[in-house]
Amino acid sequence: MRDDVQALLACPHCGGSFTSRPAGLLCSSGHAFDIARQGYVSLLTGARRAGDGDTAAMVAERARFLEAGHYAPISAAVAESATGTALLDIGAGPGHHLARVLDALPGSVGVALDVSKYAARRAAKAHPAIGSAVADAWHGLPVRSGAISTVLDVFSPRNAAEMHRVLQPGGRLVVVVPGPDHLAELVAQLGLLGVDRRKRERLDEQLGELFEPVAEREVGFRMRLDRDAAAALVGMGPNAFHGSGQAAREQLAAAAEPVEVTADVRVHVFARR
Ligand SMILES: C[S@@+](CC[C@H](N)C(=O)[O-])C[C@H]1O[C@@H](n2cnc3c(N)ncnc32)[C@H](O)[C@@H]1O
Repeated sequence: MRDDVQALLACPHCGGSFTSRPAGLLCSSGHAFDIARQGYVSLLTGARRAGDGDTAAMVAERARFLEAGHYAPISAAVAESATGTALLDIGAGPGHHLARVLDALPGSVGVALDVSKYAARRAAKAHPAIGSAVADAWHGLPVRSGAISTVLDVFSPRNAAEMHRVLQPGGRLVVVVPGPDHLAELVAQLGLLGVDRRKRERLDEQLGELFEPVAEREVGFRMRLDRDAAAALVGMGPNAFHGSGQAAREQLAAAAEPVEVTADVRVHVFARR
């Protein structure tokens, strides 16, 4: 792991800073963590296991879908909202959005955190300036206080107190949530879980005390997908826990191509209070 990325991390047991040791990290109090041969470090503590979160199949579907560029307008909107040189992506998945943000901010570095080791493996390889770690967003972030210029949270869990702690004064939080029409055609055709209509209110409830809203942008576009990409879109999301991408493939087998699907997301930018 690069020194400038490692410098953003903190020991999940004691908050101490890290130095490198062969194939791992060592904190100032002597807690040691191995770097897996796939390039990520597990900083999990407590009851969660590195196999929690998105499954290998879900992460593979997500990586394939994102690499095909179908969500490029979302990555671009996130990149336009990010600032500074030290980024943190919480629930980063395969690290695709973070990599696009790093491309747009030359000289910046990023930490990708995810509770899924399958996601962490991919994020470790998504960009040379990414350091990837397995961690549970609800348990506390293994990141130094006040070290981060922009926190990204794209469709992922939001631990307001921890996001606030790791941000520099004046730092930004960029949150992406689905809008009411997100994937509406697939929701209707396949009986998928719909978007929570109170999402906006819940965001304000979660973040309002610690963050001030600065901007909100609607990003909407139509995707023309083949059946396989449409099934990947189902298989990478919350529905995959109820039926797999394979089940969606079977349901979509007779669908006409291209499958037209609406993307409708909100990119919220907050300032740290
Ligand atoms: C919907 S995916 C979004 C991934 C990525 N942000 C993207 O948009 O491509 C949510 C991600 O959050 C991760 N996740 C779920 N619970 C988590 C937790 N408690 N701590 C950290 N990551 C978590 C999942 O493993 C998954 O990779």
